[in-house]
Amino acid sequence: MTTKTDDPVAAIMRLFAEKGDSEYGGESVNQREHALQAAACALRDGADDPLVVAALLHDLGHMLHDLPDDAPEEGIDDAHEVTAARKLAPWFDTDVTEPVRLHVDAKRYLTGTEPAYMEQLSPPSVTSLMLQGGPMDAAAQEEFRRNPHWEAAVLLRRWDDEAKVEGAETPTVDEFIPLIRGVVRPEFRGAST
Ligand SMILES: [Fe+2]
Repeated sequence: MTTKTDDPVAAIMRLFAEKGDSEYGGESVNQREHALQAAACALRDGADDPLVVAALLHDLGHMLHDLPDDAPEEGIDDAHEVTAARKLAPWFDTDVTEPVRLHVDAKRYLTGTEPAYMEQLSPPSVTSLMLQGGPMDAAAQEEFRRNPHWEAAVLLRRWDDEAKVEGAETPTVDEFIPLIRGVVRPEFRGAST
């Protein structure tokens, strides 16, 4: 039987409430604004529901650890994409968890395949790129493209890069509840949050 404490939507809402105000790694938006902007970009571009949820939750890992907000500047890779994918795995299928897990690799892929991409990255993003392994070489790019979710991860990455605009208008976190509820694994769909 599923209890209230097992409910993923309630857990996600709690995380945004408790940690959403924290700084987004030296950018001019906080974690909540960044997540909402990424999800709004996904909606704008007609992404399917799992990918919109992935965009909303892609940086959940930043809200799950207690490392300082400026960890990359201190030379620490927080591996937030792995933390998030693990946290989300009991609740969602791979069409949510894989784009989340791969969104850092997607940045490494794009910097390896598109020289112009690197130039439009924000300085904090370049700092973390180097900690995450830097641009992918040809062999790593080929390996990356073997994952069936690689294209979704690249789309998510571009929304991630776009989602750093101070004061941008977005839906609220609560407005995404029905969409999340429709994408969670079937055993969680009936909960009341
Ligand atoms: Fe992000």
